[in-house]
Amino acid sequence: MKIIVANWKMNGDIDLCDKIINSLKSAIYPESIIICPPSPLLFMFREVKFKYGAQNCSTNLKGAFTGEISPSLLKSIGCSYVIIGHSERRNLFCESNDYIFQKFKLILELDLIPIVCIGEKINERSYYKEVLEEQLKYFIKHGDLNKVIFAYEPVWSIGTGIIPNLDDILEVTSFIKMQTQSKVLYGGSVNKKNATEILNIASIDGALVGGASLDPNEFYEIIKISEKIK
Ligand code: PGA
Repeated sequence: MKIIVANWKMNGDIDLCDKIINSLKSAIYPESIIICPPSPLLFMFREVKFKYGAQNCSTNLKGAFTGEISPSLLKSIGCSYVIIGHSERRNLFCESNDYIFQKFKLILELDLIPIVCIGEKINERSYYKEVLEEQLKYFIKHGDLNKVIFAYEPVWSIGTGIIPNLDDILEVTSFIKMQTQSKVLYGGSVNKKNATEILNIASIDGALVGGASLDPNEFYEIIKISEKIK
């Protein structure tokens, strides 16, 4: 089964939670759907069959870190996943590979599953392997990657409506899979129109969906597409 992650970013409200919960009631494989709303909305998903996760967490478990959210608190409210290393966190909040790795270790220690985003910027395309190797090196050194999910998200594809050609997605995600032996998702402008061709790429274990996950009808259509693909 393909994994479909919804990254709402700083969007959504209680009404959207209700609509998504309602539209996903008939999902055949709820365990493969992971909704990542803003953290104050996570409590809305406590009774659902599908999974839910946070978009970020602290590098600490507790203490004087105003505005941060502990991964142990996320676990206590039933989260199973935490997205880390999203390009918006890397670029807008200056998160380094080292800082992301601190979160990674804590998440694994708590038996949560990290969804680690990596990807090259447009000007880095010609040497993407070096860029990805740099982003991956801490995790690979850590070793224990069998539970970890990586999401390949070319930065230039996020929110732009532009996706790489399918051969490029196959090549890059195969490269990540070879390096990590982990599950690899594709993220960047996935929508109901391109979901079939993207999810059919052999090296892809699923998709991380941003904008299109905010429309309950469109997201449901993506789920239906994913249910038809082995
Ligand atoms: P997008 O976002 O689907 O809106 O391009 C994906 C992401 O940022 O994870």
